[in-house]
Amino acid sequence: MTDRQILIAGNWKMNCLTSQAVDLAQGIAKKYSEELNPKCQVLIAPAFTVLGKVSEVLQKSGILLAGQDCHFNKNGAHTGDISPDMLKDVGCNAVILGHSERRSNHRETSQIVKQKAIQAINSGLNVIICIGETEDEKNNGKTIEVLYKQLEESIPDTATAENCVIAYEPVWAIGTGKVATVDDVKNTHNKIRAKIAEMKSQEIAQKMKVLYGGSVKPDNAKELLALEDVDGALIGGASLNVNDFWTIIKNCI
Ligand code: PGA
Repeated sequence: MTDRQILIAGNWKMNCLTSQAVDLAQGIAKKYSEELNPKCQVLIAPAFTVLGKVSEVLQKSGILLAGQDCHFNKNGAHTGDISPDMLKDVGCNAVILGHSERRSNHRETSQIVKQKAIQAINSGLNVIICIGETEDEKNNGKTIEVLYKQLEESIPDTATAENCVIAYEPVWAIGTGKVATVDDVKNTHNKIRAKIAEMKSQEIAQKMKVLYGGSVKPDNAKELLALEDVDGALIGGASLNVNDFWTIIKNCI
């Protein structure tokens, strides 16, 4: 546990048509207003097509809204892309960048992630920058080396503890039901924070949130969220169910 406020972020990925998205957002907003947990900030990241509707549902709720990606240009001829200003315009406070599914499905490099982060921060969005090692990299003892390279190459100079959150998501743990051991998460988060201190400053490193992600569920959230350097979670599957998501939020004590 930490003095930094916990952030529980739900990444809905490519799920939910309009009515499902509205139901889910309403369910979460209702719980949030009934059982407010001041220790915990809540954020949801729906697909682009439902951001407008979900934004209406969340108005004045206190729940933060994020896009799952954005382009690194301000506007222009980029068919199919979404700019940070468009996310702001629809009511987003933040954007997830460099998720491993973007890095692998869309060949996004850390350099691209950094360009996106620069533009997003310029537009007034907070960024959640994802990093994580593959199973092979883990088995070859390369976890820290890979994470340090991703941190060095993805985090822009303009990132601060106020506008940037790091999400550590081991690629092999995403959507697989496999979770890193508590000891591994503890050590890895500690090393990530040390690297942020080296890159930025000790003060920024102490304030910047570092989330864990990868098969976080109601039954494993409590022990992960209790760790000193874990400041919250980025949740995929379990964020699609109001009760599961809410049970995780309630575990932030
Ligand atoms: P998961 O996804 O919780 O379904 O493993 C996490 C993520 O990809 O952010």
